Amino acid sequence: MRAMQARKPLKLAPSILSADFARLGADVEAVHEVADLLHVDVMDGHFVPNLTIGPPVVESLRKHTDLFLDCHLMVDNPEVLLADFADAGADRCIVHIELGDPRPLFDELRERNVGVGLVLNPPTPVDTVMPYLDQVDLLLVMSVNPGWGGQAFIPEVLDKVAAARKEIDARNLACEIEIDGGINVDTAGAAAAAGVDILVAGSAVFRAPDPLAAARTILAAGEAGRAA
Ligand code: DX5
Ligand code: ZN
Repeated sequence: MRAMQARKPLKLAPSILSADFARLGADVEAVHEVADLLHVDVMDGHFVPNLTIGPPVVESLRKHTDLFLDCHLMVDNPEVLLADFADAGADRCIVHIELGDPRPLFDELRERNVGVGLVLNPPTPVDTVMPYLDQVDLLLVMSVNPGWGGQAFIPEVLDKVAAARKEIDARNLACEIEIDGGINVDTAGAAAAAGVDILVAGSAVFRAPDPLAAARTILAAGEAGRAA
């Protein structure tokens, strides 16, 4: 009970991957009221087949919003991009454990005063990230195989969320847990119940007729799942 009371309110991170890039500022403004942070999906066409956006878009966003800019780097060589993301105004960069030892990336991000996130894909065991939970601000658990928005949620990853939650709570670590992929009004509750702190939602927010209302509904579904 004490732990439940101490838990911070659930947060929502709309993913701009599903926004209209030609009117990005307006799309972000539309969800500002409910968004706790913005999820920026960076894809290089190598780590994942899809190609999206990079530091110039972060720089433009930085001028238009005070929201926390959380950059999910789905790229083969994040080390060559970290300085540019830092200069562009990224608040945090999230790097993939599948690339190998992430500690040099953590060091560079800390030196540049940028937050540190670590992410694992659905097939990657949670044991691979456990040694780093005391070194990161965020653990991102992918609930789809990265590359595209609008894919179906993979419920099996919730076991990894629960394992990480247990470890973080047992060691009283500051690391937050975020989930990304297929989050909508039907899946947010289970994700929150498993122990996430932050829900990423792209298509369920920006492809909805009323993105702000959709964001509110997803967050409420998450809170309901957490309280159940
Ligand atoms: C997937 C990206 C996600 C994506 C989520 O590769 O990492 O952040 O935007 O989109 P939805 O919420 O539509 O699954
Ligand atoms: Zn993402």
